[in-house]
Amino acid sequence: MLGNFIYSNPTKIYFGENALNGLREELPKYGENVLLVYGGGSIKKNGIYDDVIAILLECGKKVIEDAGVMPNPTVEKLYEGCERAREGNIDLILAVGGGSVCDYAKAVSVSTHCKEDPWEKYYLRMEDVDNDIIPVGCVLTMVGTGSEMNGGSVITNHKQKRKIGHVFGDNVMPKFSIMNPVYTFTLPRYQMTAGFFDIMSHILEQYFSGYDDNTSDYIMEGLLKSLIHSTKIAVKNPKDYEARSNIMWIATWALNTFVAKGKTTDWEVHMIGQSIGAYTDATHGMTLSAVSIPYYKFIMPYGLKKFKRYAINVWDVKPDGKTDEQIAEQGLAEMENYMREIGLVMNISELGVKEEMLEGIADGTFIMEGGYKVLEHDDVIQILKESMKY
Ligand code: NZQ
Ligand code: ZN
Repeated sequence: MLGNFIYSNPTKIYFGENALNGLREELPKYGENVLLVYGGGSIKKNGIYDDVIAILLECGKKVIEDAGVMPNPTVEKLYEGCERAREGNIDLILAVGGGSVCDYAKAVSVSTHCKEDPWEKYYLRMEDVDNDIIPVGCVLTMVGTGSEMNGGSVITNHKQKRKIGHVFGDNVMPKFSIMNPVYTFTLPRYQMTAGFFDIMSHILEQYFSGYDDNTSDYIMEGLLKSLIHSTKIAVKNPKDYEARSNIMWIATWALNTFVAKGKTTDWEVHMIGQSIGAYTDATHGMTLSAVSIPYYKFIMPYGLKKFKRYAINVWDVKPDGKTDEQIAEQGLAEMENYMREIGLVMNISELGVKEEMLEGIADGTFIMEGGYKVLEHDDVIQILKESMKY
């Protein structure tokens, strides 16, 4: 049964090879001062920067740049961005980049006019926004997080060894997002495949929870099948537009809040992954891939019915003559084969995790209650240790 819910998503999407033209429609809606936020320079190398600047100037905007947003944006960078946004009296934040840049833009959006320390208010205390918000628009260049159409914003505090996401409401979601699949062609393979698994993980985090006959589960099975099909093509030919465009759109649907409506969700893989990220600064998608198989093997006995369904409906496992356990196990084995085929990291040691970090990572892992098994501290340690054997 579907639970009760309210659904709204205010982000306007411009999708396709000419999507950047959407900027000409959107920019006139905002004041003159634009904070142009971007990362370490990929947009300068591939020409996206020049195209964006040309349209900003054509639309009469005063551009203040905030460059150098790092993967897994830090709290120090956030404070710096707020300072810049205050000084520039910013009317619109335009994020040009991947999830880190979009997440950071949202953090600056809610923090610039915040009277308190935003890290404490939004990330440690998880409070709602009660001050002015600067509107955000995105030009997406890396696919995976869904940040282009959600209120999520993840910030890392290395001193406190905490990486925490706050999911803000409709008012913080991007007002518009420009999604041109061609922009993703220049991604390094490691980032590309990490993004692919981030998408898969987002879907699985919402799928592996509850047993109701829920239409969201059918939608997610469809998204997963399309994702598996298209990513296998994209790893062979990263410039396959059909595959890359499908993947880009699946990523958005995987985490634009739609499939979670009316059902419970898990998110434990992300909690473990984020804690690994706080210790290692590793690439987000790879922190998820390296713990997923050990985690799902661990919880499978508690959610056997769903794991059996997953094996049959997503991985085409033939159930005849097999026990439920055998079917479920074969589904996870197929998933592992696929993960190896597309080149994902399967062992947390490859991400820089050392034996002596395990206690701290487990301590920093938030325990969720929507999955098939509520983990204990030692369960997290066991999952981390299992990953080290892969
Ligand atoms: O910084 P530049 O030079 O631009 O390079 C970036 C960066 O090094 C590069 N890149 C991006 N687009 C490119 C490109 N290189 C060449 N060509 C392009 N077109 O890719 C690298 C990674 O970018 P990043 O934005 O860090 O990746 P991603 O999109 O995976 O974002 C990761 C962040 O999002 C958070 C993660 O925790 C992490 O901090 N998440 C946000 C979520 C949300 N908002 O809902 C949910 C996710 O689960 C996730 O937690
Ligand atoms: Zn993710």
